[in-house]
Amino acid sequence: MAARTFGMSRRDFLGVLAGATTVGAMPGMVHALGTLAAAPNAFVPHQFPKDFMWGVATAAYQIEGAWNVDGKGQSIWDTFAHTVGKVKGADTGDVACDSYHLYKGDVELAKKLNVKSYRFSIAWPRIQADGTGKSNPKGLDYYKRLADTLLEAKVRPLATLYHWDLPQKLQDAGGWPNREVVGRFTDYCEIAAKALGDRISDWCIFNEPWVFTFLGYDWGAQAPGLRDFDATMKATHVVNLSQGQAFRAIKAVDGKFQVGSAYSMSNCEPATNRAEDKAAADRAHAMANLWFLEPALKGNYPTAFPNGNPYELMDVKSGDMELCKAPLDFIGINYYRRAMVAAIPAGTGDASMGLRNFDAFEGPLTDFAWEVWPDSFYQLVMRITREYSKPVIEITENGCSYLDSPDTKGRVPDQRRIDYTRGYLSALGRAMKDGANVRSYHHWSLLDNFEWAEGYAQRFGLVWVDFRDQRRIIKDSGYWYGKLAASGNLA
Ligand code: NOJ
Repeated sequence: MAARTFGMSRRDFLGVLAGATTVGAMPGMVHALGTLAAAPNAFVPHQFPKDFMWGVATAAYQIEGAWNVDGKGQSIWDTFAHTVGKVKGADTGDVACDSYHLYKGDVELAKKLNVKSYRFSIAWPRIQADGTGKSNPKGLDYYKRLADTLLEAKVRPLATLYHWDLPQKLQDAGGWPNREVVGRFTDYCEIAAKALGDRISDWCIFNEPWVFTFLGYDWGAQAPGLRDFDATMKATHVVNLSQGQAFRAIKAVDGKFQVGSAYSMSNCEPATNRAEDKAAADRAHAMANLWFLEPALKGNYPTAFPNGNPYELMDVKSGDMELCKAPLDFIGINYYRRAMVAAIPAGTGDASMGLRNFDAFEGPLTDFAWEVWPDSFYQLVMRITREYSKPVIEITENGCSYLDSPDTKGRVPDQRRIDYTRGYLSALGRAMKDGANVRSYHHWSLLDNFEWAEGYAQRFGLVWVDFRDQRRIIKDSGYWYGKLAASGNLA
């Protein structure tokens, strides 16, 4: 197995920290368990507050389809998915759930599940085909119609401005490692905020910046499919600059907007009690969880490299950290699973973080072979609560892939998704009882959809989708979630 980035094999690194499309756990890989609290995953009932926002989450490329309709330009995901060999089964998002045309029915489904918040993303190339210049009215109209439909249904629209679909033209000019993207992205955010701000007041600037920089530019596993550690580190800095500038541009449109980002997070646990492993786990936490948060909230990078962060490589210029700074109104957390971390001697490039990640499989595995360990969610939320002095948190994603399909009566019995969600919400309730300031939870996802490099081979939806004819069936978990969203009572 090739040992690369930060001393992790590609599959370990992707598998554990990503929270996105990855390969599954690796049988036979062991980790020391250390001392575990008694029954760390024990279920504790919880009554959520009345104003808690129950939600569901989706993303443009994963559900919209209509990839070349109404003036939409090509994105890096169109290019990547159209390259045979990149996505399982040669699947593409060309049609996906066709939500571009079926959005009214999809909002109706969300309403049936009693949700108060719908997180979706805006496809940048629908707004500016090439990522620059004048906006495309037809693209904006789609999001206006979507937002109107949500508002009529009394559901809050929570719009993510970047969920991985960079206009291809900007990638041709260098993509996220190119500092010029800061200006392009800021312009786009301003256009979106101005055009949609009468309907949408809650914004996530980025979705999972760690994932789209590392998986896209270092591992080649996602668009644009490059393998270049130096470019990746540059990209992380450009993304941080963009986040700060976009924050200011959106706030300038209306200071009352609520603006944050959605970060992939994993509780990073040392593989043993050895001091080196504990230090490695802290570095993994710095990179996986804080690399795009600390620059915004504190104006500096957390220490993720044992021999010092590679600022020169990242092209950090004087004055940059002031630009990265942005007092986000909320921290969005996408949570799927924990990471076990062990120290290795620090190498160069990918291995310069001096650590190695292991999948944990002490708990049951989902059909994606991701470990179910709700206590790690509690630990992570509490850690962020401590380290950032009780910030406002929105859980922007949490969910699981199980492949249950309709039975002979046309019902989709998916008890394992109910058990998973109940466990993670119990952990969240515990964190709230212990002081975490959490105001929403968005289940990933409303619909089964295009799961990036896994294509349609994973199903995360509360609603089952037949990708041949776009039939939708609410799964048992969907009905269960709907009742919970109505009562707020997790019993
Ligand atoms: C995180 C990503 O934001 C989302 O796009 C993806 O489908 C889920 N994780 C599941 O992997």
